[in-house]
Amino acid sequence: MAWWSFSAETWALIVILISLILLYGYWPFGFFKRLGVPGPKPVPFFGTMLQYRKGIHNFDMDCFQKYGKIWGIYDARQPVLCVMDFDIIKTIMIKECYSLFTNRRMFGIMKSHSRSLVKNLQKTSERGESVDIKEFFGAYSMDVVTSTAFSVDIDSLNNPKDPFVSNIKKMLKFDLLNPLFLAVALFPFIAPVLEKMDFAFFPIAVTDFFYASLKKIKSERVTKDIKKRVDFMQLMIDSQKPEQAQSKDTNKGPKILLLSLSDIEQVTEVDYDTVMNMEYLDAALSESLRLYPVAPRLERVCKKTVEIKGLTIPKDIVVLIPTYTLHRDPEYWTDPETFNPERFTQENKESIEQYAYMPFGVGPRNCIGMRFAMMTMKLAIVEILQKFDISLSEEMKVPLELNNSGLLAPKHPIKLHFTARKLNNCCGSNHHQG
Ligand code: HEM
Repeated sequence: MAWWSFSAETWALIVILISLILLYGYWPFGFFKRLGVPGPKPVPFFGTMLQYRKGIHNFDMDCFQKYGKIWGIYDARQPVLCVMDFDIIKTIMIKECYSLFTNRRMFGIMKSHSRSLVKNLQKTSERGESVDIKEFFGAYSMDVVTSTAFSVDIDSLNNPKDPFVSNIKKMLKFDLLNPLFLAVALFPFIAPVLEKMDFAFFPIAVTDFFYASLKKIKSERVTKDIKKRVDFMQLMIDSQKPEQAQSKDTNKGPKILLLSLSDIEQVTEVDYDTVMNMEYLDAALSESLRLYPVAPRLERVCKKTVEIKGLTIPKDIVVLIPTYTLHRDPEYWTDPETFNPERFTQENKESIEQYAYMPFGVGPRNCIGMRFAMMTMKLAIVEILQKFDISLSEEMKVPLELNNSGLLAPKHPIKLHFTARKLNNCCGSNHHQG
């Protein structure tokens, strides 16, 4: 039967169906208009998500320039309130600060991996090859996390087929425009159905692998009472045994050692305090995280309707804080696009607005791995700079362009040359030690 010969009832049904679909597509989009919050125009079903194609960081920057410190976007049907106003950020994010772990006993484990990082770089240096820096540092951070968390030692750069390595890689391949993710964003009610059908964002085989591995590691530890070395898993198991005396941190008290990056070669023994007290290293790393915050946005879901500074934030709304944009806001940063570690030296960093710089988030839900991550990065930098001179490879594209999908990452590989350094055999006599 040809379509023009449909009966009136069929036509009425088709019209009703199309109207319902359109209504479903447009329904959520009056939300910010009612609140009086400006923002980019959403399209049915996708909201403003299609604009992520230009990169989340670029989209946030554009919105800030167009709409000021508060604007609304739609992740498919989900309204997301973006906020750069410090008073509102403070009210949303801060209650009381606490830190979860500043454990120092993992330093030895970390060091064995920083050594293997240096060894791997050594090989490329001898071959005169340039290095894709993300590949090497990715492997290093994966090795440190798996060993400090579970005592699973892998040299992942040289063992890409190790099941831990291949499964973590599969887990990290997450695309915001993945069809399954889009389907759940557009039609949230299908999520439980997909779950029943064993669909998941992370491949089931991958989550099963980690679940089984962790279960095995834990039961081995519990039955054999292995106490070889301290890792997070062991700390968690110990914390479940109240009767057992817990080993104390034998930290010998703080040594204050002020070193600049040029002092790095003068450090003979790299230990926790030395690395943590290198002021210029800290400033340089902080400035890198300002320009390139790995998580370019923070977010919180509003538990109950509140009014802050005259702005009503309804229950269940996602409040988003665009850190990438705040980190480059000319109101708080002079010459924001320039890399300038001086901003973070002891005397200058006090003048930095707390909410203008949040690479690890803020408040009780901030990053629990902050000190651990800073330590891991600093250790690698110190060990590398002690042994190599670094130069840009000819293949390296300058200035650095960012990828436009998912987490903040370079668009093209960062290619560097590592050349073995001729040390002028010093012994740390210039250290300012107290
Ligand atoms: C350069 C490295 C890292 C950066 C830039 C980073 C950044 C962040 C940010 C921005 C958040 C959200 C904070 C907020 O919403 O206020 C976060 C949360 C978190 N991070 Fe990190 N992180 C890093 C490394 C790590 C590492 C190495 C670990 C674990 C060993 C870790 C564990 C966590 C956890 C568990 C949370 C969730 C905290 C919560 O929800 O209460 N992070 N991180």
